Amino acid sequence: MVFRSNVLRTLGASALLLLLAGCSAPLSAHWQGFPPAPQAKPGTAETDSAPAPAGPDCAEVKCVALTFDDGPGPYTESLLDVLDEHDAKATFFLIGIDVAKHPDIVRDEFARGHELGNHTWSHQDLAKLSPDAGQRELRKANDAIKEATGAAPTVMRPPYGTITESLKKSQPVPVVMWSDDTLDWKTRNAKKTIKAAENIEPGSIVLMHDIHKSTIDAMPKILTDLESQGYHFVTVSQLVGSPKPGVAHKTGQQPAATN
Ligand code: NI
Repeated sequence: MVFRSNVLRTLGASALLLLLAGCSAPLSAHWQGFPPAPQAKPGTAETDSAPAPAGPDCAEVKCVALTFDDGPGPYTESLLDVLDEHDAKATFFLIGIDVAKHPDIVRDEFARGHELGNHTWSHQDLAKLSPDAGQRELRKANDAIKEATGAAPTVMRPPYGTITESLKKSQPVPVVMWSDDTLDWKTRNAKKTIKAAENIEPGSIVLMHDIHKSTIDAMPKILTDLESQGYHFVTVSQLVGSPKPGVAHKTGQQPAATN
């Protein structure tokens, strides 16, 4: 039964990969409907440049990069308020389709000093697309973010954490994976998300999703707990220092040259 056991092994590996990938449900599972758009605020015009806060020195103090995928979503604005209360900067990996529908929310993320990342136009698995189709997914999302904010995204994260080696190397911006998957997309439970965040260490890149209410509900406690431990909340680029284009970053440590 060599064939059968190979099939089983393949299926097992696929299931494990899906479990590990963690990058949320397919696009069809996304929420629908938004709260009323916030009114444009002074200083958020398209032509404004990035706030570019210097941030703390992560070589001297404890830092963590909280990252939120698959937005913008109906809870994103509430999350931005919670982050502001804790003087926390985060990184948002955005889906182009939703950026195009709700550029005001993305503009607000940018204006409040968060880092914006490309998460493809329609949440496709880049490892399964042709090179041209993969580039198109990334280019369309890049253009939507640039149109919304006036600035191109500075990092990218492939949906499901999968990307071909050649596409990764061709990226003009750093590719960002993660060290801590809270599994918020799976549990949809604030208490479990809070528990998962207890694994955070200095230099962690934490994967969460701002399209789930349970994640936003978990944030005040996660931020308060980490703050009491002396953590500073920074963007991925602030955490890594000088993240390298075409290279996958999983933590605040620079990856080996061969990565
Ligand atoms: Ni995703």
